[in-house]
Amino acid sequence: MKSDDQEFAAPQKSMAVSIKTFGCQMNMYDSEVAGGLLQHQGYKILQEDFTKDRQDDTGVPTADIVLMNTCSVREHAEERVYGRMGMLGKAKEKNPDLIIGLMGCMVEEHKDKLFKRFPQLDLMVGTRNVADLPRLIEEVRRTRRQVAQIKQEGISIEYTDQIRREGRFHAWLPIMTGCNKVCTFCIVPITRGSEVSMPARDVYREASRLVQEGVQWLTLLGQNVNSYNGISPVDRAQTAEKGLAARNVSFPELLESLCQIDGLKALSFTTSHPHDATPELYEVIERNPKISRRFHLPLQSGSDRMLKRMKRLHSFAEYREKIKAMRGMIPDVSITTDIIAGFSGETEADHEATKQALEELRFDGAYIYKYSVRPGTPASKLADDVPLDVKEKRNQELLTLQKAIEAENRQAWLGREVEVFAESPSTKDPGKLVGRTIHEMKVVFEAAPSRIGSFVKVRLDKLTHETFTGTVS
Ligand code: SAH
Ligand code: F3S
Repeated sequence: MKSDDQEFAAPQKSMAVSIKTFGCQMNMYDSEVAGGLLQHQGYKILQEDFTKDRQDDTGVPTADIVLMNTCSVREHAEERVYGRMGMLGKAKEKNPDLIIGLMGCMVEEHKDKLFKRFPQLDLMVGTRNVADLPRLIEEVRRTRRQVAQIKQEGISIEYTDQIRREGRFHAWLPIMTGCNKVCTFCIVPITRGSEVSMPARDVYREASRLVQEGVQWLTLLGQNVNSYNGISPVDRAQTAEKGLAARNVSFPELLESLCQIDGLKALSFTTSHPHDATPELYEVIERNPKISRRFHLPLQSGSDRMLKRMKRLHSFAEYREKIKAMRGMIPDVSITTDIIAGFSGETEADHEATKQALEELRFDGAYIYKYSVRPGTPASKLADDVPLDVKEKRNQELLTLQKAIEAENRQAWLGREVEVFAESPSTKDPGKLVGRTIHEMKVVFEAAPSRIGSFVKVRLDKLTHETFTGTVS
């Protein structure tokens, strides 16, 4: 971690910073880094969302600095930021000292255009420049000019022990960013650029450091973790470190090496592209009980015509084969997916094919969203020809169907004994603990607080919505 931020004077008073995170887990990680770096500089990081609890009677946020870590994946996420920007503009009329900043994908997508559109905006920091945030805030305070740092090249992952993690036992660990696929609907290759992997040695060291800090469950992050291809150390002494060879390390190899870290109890990862999910990966999952049994594999549509139009590089039959192979190899694997409703050119027959796919594959979870055109993507040149009411209807149908399937899948777990990682006391019932199974299902159970931070064998007795209640066995 670079420490050139040390040349800046600490804030004159303990200025309060609110960071609101939109979008994916990568943004959550970046917000944790941003919060940590600023806290290290003497800023106070507010827990609350400034739009809810932190407003005083005048409507001005209590925060001195408001940062929004933005997402561009769907139009709706951007609209929420624009809405807040309007609100903050009004707040700034009352408190001209308020500093407003943007991070994340919208900065990469719109760049300086945002300064023109929003004169109340003080600073923008690109996804590769989170470490520059303290310096930029200082600059705004000194000059009161709009400042930005948006680097085009390099990797956007910052490993730092100054990170301010939300979880005590769980940590995000980005291993690669960007994407070399060209799914026609997707803006990620534009906002996050081409794939870049962190060197395997750095990932291993950061994972070990986190485990030493008390982390027991890691989630590896990347737009397409399956195409991770991190260079491993070149010199012999370093390659000896847990058997990483002096060559590029594949994702299954990386997983296997991380499983060897003593004290690490569970390892998840997201997201995988079906094209790059291979039997080698399923084998590694199967033989390493530490690896999460929840596998997120976005399908997007059950219609081959749509998959082709989306340039997903596989047919539905190929996807089905992968699921079959994985389920055959890994008992009880829990598979989740992403679906887009109403993509360009989608007919009733295509929509029916997606419904059938959900019924056949019986996912344990699905993120289902209406298609929204993203500027600059290949699909932005195609007609967005499914009327909004039809998109909404299809979206709702898919959600209803999927909810019923998930509920049935969960019911099937009742009566079974599972290992649950005890994470914290229950907020609703402080006498109980809350934990997650290796399939990432939530379980509440009665046990001594001393069990927090370990796996506990629990029988699943009852199901309320998505939460199980169990008894320690
Ligand atoms: N591999 C990435 C995918 C990023 S986008 C990951 O890390 O998850 C996440 C999901 O958003 C996609 O799988 C897709 O289902 C959805 N999505 C992407 N672009 C979209 C768009 N233009 N409209 C609606 N949904 C979209
Ligand atoms: Fe987007 Fe497709 Fe990559 S959904 S992140 S272009 S795999």
